[in-house]
Amino acid sequence: MLKDRRSVTHEADSRLVSILQGAYSGERAAGHAYNGHWRSVRDPDERREIRKIELEEWQHRGVVGEMLAELGATPLQWREIVFLMIGTVLKYGCFVSGWMMPMFGAGRLESRNIVEYEDAARVAWRSGRTAWVECLLGMAEVEWDHELYFRARLEQHRFWRRMPLWQKPPPRASIRESFAAETAETAQTATTPDQVPVDRVSEVA
Ligand SMILES: [Fe+2]
Ligand SMILES: [Fe+2]
Repeated sequence: MLKDRRSVTHEADSRLVSILQGAYSGERAAGHAYNGHWRSVRDPDERREIRKIELEEWQHRGVVGEMLAELGATPLQWREIVFLMIGTVLKYGCFVSGWMMPMFGAGRLESRNIVEYEDAARVAWRSGRTAWVECLLGMAEVEWDHELYFRARLEQHRFWRRMPLWQKPPPRASIRESFAAETAETAQTATTPDQVPVDRVSEVA
């Protein structure tokens, strides 16, 4: 059964709201955690780099908050509180957990953040919010850079050279390549309006 345009928009927007609410609160925890992380390390280069990462997480949160507002949605309050608590625990935990644990935890978390923004870009495309795609893919790339930084720091440490880390993400370029391939294929094979972005529904309806 074909879905009408309003139904397609509603479903994709609901999914997008859900992803963005998760990302918004996740960035809050990350921002607080990195605030403690850069203050807890001694190496000036590490302090500067992790501080930069903290600022990028707050920027992401600002952008995601604007997208939520445009969707007529608000952050989930319970999630905001939970992630504030998580971020605060991690922030102060960095001062007692040593050098390795925060580096490992951050890198592993960043690998998930890449996928979160890739998913958001795909759903935004499906809902016809194609103007957001570039921004969301850009944030996925920034998360990829963050993951690389923490992975590289750990790999330079002699203990971690022989230890397995979390699964390595695909190359950075694959973020845009896989998005382009997937969306092109969907648009080509679409036979129903719910398989294409809302702003192209009329082409296949
Ligand atoms: Fe982020
Ligand atoms: Fe990040």
